[in-house]
Amino acid sequence: MLSREENEYLTHTGPDTPMGTFMRRFWMPFMLSKEIIEPDGAPQRVRLLGEDLLAFRDSEGRLALVDEYCPHRRVSLFFGRNEACGIRCVYHGWKFDVDGNCVDMPSEPADSTFRDKVKLRSYPVREKAGIIWAYMGPPELMGDLPDMQWMGVPDDHRYQSRWYQESNYAQAVEGEIDSAHVSFLHSKLDNDAANKAALTGAFFAEDTAPKWKVTEGEFGMTLGARRRVDGGRYYWRMNQWLYPFYTMIAPVPGESRTVRAWVPADDHHCNIICITYRDDKPVTEQELHDWSTGAAAHAALIPGTLTPAANATNNYNIDRDLQRASSFTGIVGIRAQDAAMTESAGAIVDRSLEHLGTSDTAIIKMRRLLIDSARNLENGIEPPGGRNGALYRVRSHSVMIDEDDDFDERPDILAAMGINDTNSGVTV
Ligand code: FES
Ligand SMILES: [Fe+2]
Repeated sequence: MLSREENEYLTHTGPDTPMGTFMRRFWMPFMLSKEIIEPDGAPQRVRLLGEDLLAFRDSEGRLALVDEYCPHRRVSLFFGRNEACGIRCVYHGWKFDVDGNCVDMPSEPADSTFRDKVKLRSYPVREKAGIIWAYMGPPELMGDLPDMQWMGVPDDHRYQSRWYQESNYAQAVEGEIDSAHVSFLHSKLDNDAANKAALTGAFFAEDTAPKWKVTEGEFGMTLGARRRVDGGRYYWRMNQWLYPFYTMIAPVPGESRTVRAWVPADDHHCNIICITYRDDKPVTEQELHDWSTGAAAHAALIPGTLTPAANATNNYNIDRDLQRASSFTGIVGIRAQDAAMTESAGAIVDRSLEHLGTSDTAIIKMRRLLIDSARNLENGIEPPGGRNGALYRVRSHSVMIDEDDDFDERPDILAAMGINDTNSGVTV
């Protein structure tokens, strides 16, 4: 549990909050390139760390992320004209380029220099691997984009999507790194031996109280869960949490991997960027749409929105007959099952009322790392990994090994996770 004060400290990410200041030290993914392709196309509203922003692509294809509100009389530039290398406010015609410079002020006398004194807030933006990233921190402290494995694979090896969740980022991340729930929330009552995912499901079902091992690295932490299977063998599943809000979930061996960024839109909403990828061959339609192999990693949306079709207003389409017959939840799809739990706790769960057990080790550790990092920053200590993209070259992994082995003592397993001297982990 956390005190009420610590809970606020962890979950509030608006301007001038300690956690918001910490997050602003990192490049943040916030939108897909395919959402904003056309030069001079319609600008798009973006909510990020509690700020109302506007993204647009100018006549030369440059991307901008600016304050949504015109510095003149604060009306929304969403209604603006995106034309001739800038966004023009339709109220009095002031125009701004991608860097926020006022390049035209037709409502003032021609010889006025007032326009040189007016600036629209703008943030640096980059585009990589089909995702648009923003940096909202001090310009002199800007670092690298994270260099994650999925960002280097060919386009057809990767699929990305985005949606909103009605919860604070922290509890969304907690849901993701909580491996213990997999044995319950995502289980079937009748494990289908013919189904590959059910094979993994059987491991989860056999040992519902795994042994936990959490190791810390400069990138964040690796969360190992060991489950006993028959024949004296042990199934280890290693997920990663990376500063400040990324998760990497271990694939069934040989299948595609999923990485998510749980980016705070504001304190009550999370902007989820989800990537499914493989490094050996293109991802297939089946991988994306078969619920057992990652499809449900992505959300089916209400057309024209970023809202999942299965959501709190329809109780995630829970089917009580299905719940009785074959599904532990009666909710179809891993994404919807996760969201049902995470959102049902309220937008910001009251962590002072929790009763945490041994299965919550990773969650406790993540909160501590984030809170300590933000406190350190308040004391002038810059965040670990905030400016070093190479630290992000880790990946999740799952493997069967003997009882006496631990994942972090096997160089081959550490290598498979991309953990080496530059980002090596220590047991915590
Ligand atoms: S409010 Fe935008 S130009 Fe006047
Ligand atoms: Fe889950």
